[in-house]
Amino acid sequence: MSSPPAAGRAAVLSGLGTCLPSRVVTNDDLARHLDTSHEWIHSRTGIARRRVAAPHTGTAELAAAAGRAALASAGRTGCDLVLVATTTPDRTCPATAPRVASLLDLSGTAAFDLSAVCSGFVYALAVASSLITAGTCESALVIGAERYSTITDPDDRSTAILFGDGAGAVLLERGTAARDGAVLHTDLGSDGTGEELITVPPGERYLRMRGREVYARAVPAMVDSTRRVAKAVGWEPGEIEGLIGHQANIRILQAVARRLELPAERLVAHLEDVGNTAAASIPLAMAHAAEERRLAPGARTVLTAFGGGLTWGSAALTWADVTPVHHLEPDAAG
Ligand code: COA
Repeated sequence: MSSPPAAGRAAVLSGLGTCLPSRVVTNDDLARHLDTSHEWIHSRTGIARRRVAAPHTGTAELAAAAGRAALASAGRTGCDLVLVATTTPDRTCPATAPRVASLLDLSGTAAFDLSAVCSGFVYALAVASSLITAGTCESALVIGAERYSTITDPDDRSTAILFGDGAGAVLLERGTAARDGAVLHTDLGSDGTGEELITVPPGERYLRMRGREVYARAVPAMVDSTRRVAKAVGWEPGEIEGLIGHQANIRILQAVARRLELPAERLVAHLEDVGNTAAASIPLAMAHAAEERRLAPGARTVLTAFGGGLTWGSAALTWADVTPVHHLEPDAAG
């Protein structure tokens, strides 16, 4: 599925926020109870540490803190829609987003969750951007929030080393395609025949993953989706100035960049410090890129993701001139 190239009206990114739990778990911490090592994990994945939420912190609290930070980054206090992309909602029913809206003092605002695993943020960005360009709403908070520690088997060394908790958010507002930060085009896809590759099996608590097969499927899917989205907006792949991929594994990101013939410095990598945070990984990496001033306002940027479902998706945007705001994990008192 592909959205038409934006002409005139567009959703424009105006704020960027994050919330990371305060507890850091290093590879050495994991190696104390798992048959693994920092060297194995770091050389195979690029991950050195990840964050784990406190027992009192739900996905909603992480999402609300990141959403509040994105509103502050944009200098706003409200919006018309709260969209939470998550694989780990606090409850099966109801959705997380209405509680997030109420934690943000936005009761009355439209709010729903979107589930597309690690592609969730790009899917949510596509949905929110389409609602804005269609005139259904003026502004939307798009939040990727995860608490993978609730579905990760602490005794499974093939997954426990990968995932982390956290949340990242962007505020989108109605503007024009000429503005820095404009979402120009999105490309989404899925293949349900691969549902067993990343799954919490029915009746079970923990995620199971066939890592090697996921790796092999992720690289071509992200490359092809990036090519499609770039072509739709008239960019040669080599003209992409910033590639912000889902932060699953540094070797996947490097392989995607190599196939697109992009120099490594155009790749934004943030997973060393936070691991794979699923739907939160792209907005966290965007905030990292903004913090480090990696991209100039207006730079040709592609977000690209791949995850369980299987799902994949990409978005082409121009880089926004925004300063990210980081909020701490809320304490037990709220
Ligand atoms: N420490 C040490 N050894 C480990 C290990 C760990 N944490 N995890 C697995 N191993 C072992 C395996 O048991 C296997 O041993 P064997 O050869 O004796 O059977 C060996 O390392 C190779 O395992 P394999 O799973 O083939 O490793 P890999 O090189 O494919 O790396 C991943 C594993 C998970 C890092 C890699 O497949 C990956 O990143 N895949 C993508 C996962 C992903 O990104 N998922 C989310 C997508 S949204």
